[in-house]
Amino acid sequence: MLPAPPLPLTTERLVLRTVVASDSTAIGAYCADPEVTRYLPFPALDAEGLAGRMQRLVAATAPSVPGEFLALAVTHDDVLVGDLMLRFTDRHGETDPPAIGELGWVFAPEHAGRGFATEAARALVDLAFTHYPLHRLMARLDPRNVASARLCERIGMTREAHTREDYAERDGSWSDTAVYGLLRREWAAA
Ligand SMILES: CC(C)(COP(=O)(O)OP(=O)(O)OC[C@H]1O[C@@H](n2cnc3c(N)ncnc32)[C@H](O)[C@@H]1OP(=O)(O)O)[C@@H](O)C(=O)NCCC(=O)NCCS
Repeated sequence: MLPAPPLPLTTERLVLRTVVASDSTAIGAYCADPEVTRYLPFPALDAEGLAGRMQRLVAATAPSVPGEFLALAVTHDDVLVGDLMLRFTDRHGETDPPAIGELGWVFAPEHAGRGFATEAARALVDLAFTHYPLHRLMARLDPRNVASARLCERIGMTREAHTREDYAERDGSWSDTAVYGLLRREWAAA
């Protein structure tokens, strides 16, 4: 078992903390927007979908093994502006700690364009490499998701791959995937 991370994190303008049940209204508002969920692995959420997502986010406080994740609510002046995820995807061997983490982010459109996602993601990257023994962080996204690709680049990730038609969309079509990566030594050098 890995210890729970030291939270909350505070940045210049934001607080990053675990998700609580009362975040449901704010998270539900942007996750019900089909424009927000267009490139996410879930459709715009109805009440049932939101209840399931909230249950998973609230429980995601102390990931330890591959498949588990840390979910963070991001607030600015006590208003929830978005949420972040760090999911462990791999490790060298059965008994080794996780070595690879995948980043994810969803921010409310009314708080876009102010650098909040960038500021929060940088804090999560720092936490990932300081608190966990990770070797590599990565992000996978639809290459048409320009805002997310720009965010990856702003936090120092490298575009490493573009795989073709490897993601099954909900409507049965296939989408490409862009893979971004950041190695521990690159983070340390920066
Ligand atoms: C991906 C997502 C989080 C990016 O949001 P964003 O608002 O573009 O990102 P930021 O909050 O970091 O804001 C950056 C923008 O604000 C501008 N900005 C203003 N002040 C800034 C500051 N102090 N610091 C950094 N950027 C600032 C930047 O120039 C940038 O604009 P640009 O892209 O036009 O150059 C958002 O589009 C989103 O939630 N999308 C839906 C969910 C989704 O697709 N998630 C990813 C799935 S892979």
